[in-house]
Amino acid sequence: METKNENVYVPAFYANRSIFITGGTGFLGKALIEKLLRSCPDVREIFVLIRPKKGLSVNDRLNKILSNKLFDLLRSRQPSAFDKIVPVTGYVAKENLGLLPSDREMLIDRVSIIFHVAASVRFDEGLKDAIFNNTRSTRDICILASEMKNLVASLRYFLWKIQFFRIIFLIKKKIK
Ligand SMILES: NC(=O)c1ccc[n+]([C@@H]2O[C@H](COP(=O)([O-])OP(=O)(O)OC[C@H]3O[C@@H](n4cnc5c(N)ncnc54)[C@H](OP(=O)(O)O)[C@@H]3O)[C@@H](O)[C@H]2O)c1
Repeated sequence: METKNENVYVPAFYANRSIFITGGTGFLGKALIEKLLRSCPDVREIFVLIRPKKGLSVNDRLNKILSNKLFDLLRSRQPSAFDKIVPVTGYVAKENLGLLPSDREMLIDRVSIIFHVAASVRFDEGLKDAIFNNTRSTRDICILASEMKNLVASLRYFLWKIQFFRIIFLIKKKIK
């Protein structure tokens, strides 16, 4: 339950801050973007790492997400909030998150809060893909975070028990 103090404190924390979100096209990431924009109106900007997929460009994918019913309330009350979303091309399974050097520099200069939500939640992928998507990507986020000039918080969303034990299972299978 939100108290009056939390309502003031949380938006104040995010005010004038730039946020970097991975996994913004997924279940949790979409809800996070909507909640941040709706409840923290003074957020400066939200960079969303998106990969091109199924013939859709990063911009097409962002537009598709924003047309989701989830964003209807925001669209009716604060339509200009959408201008704060900046898509950034990236692939978390690639080294250094597959970021272009210019985008990386922009994130280093401007971001102060990271939500690393991207993950592969499939249980039928191989060990290499599971590690690149879920483990090495977190290392690469930490490296990026360590270069950020104004970092105040970096969070990893992870159902760690399920994904950790899945990786252990795959490693055991490989070394048998
Ligand atoms: N859902 C829940 O209730 C819940 C609760 C607690 C914690 N979590 C954790 O939160 C994380 C996300 O869960 P979710 O339910 O939101 O999963 P999801 O709907 O499957 O979303 C996964 C997100 O990760 C992105 N992604 C995956 N591989 C990528 C790659 N190689 N490069 C770039 N982006 C990539 C996906 O992008 P594409 O759209 O391009 O595939 C998508 O945006 C997981 O670690 C999960 O364990 C989830």
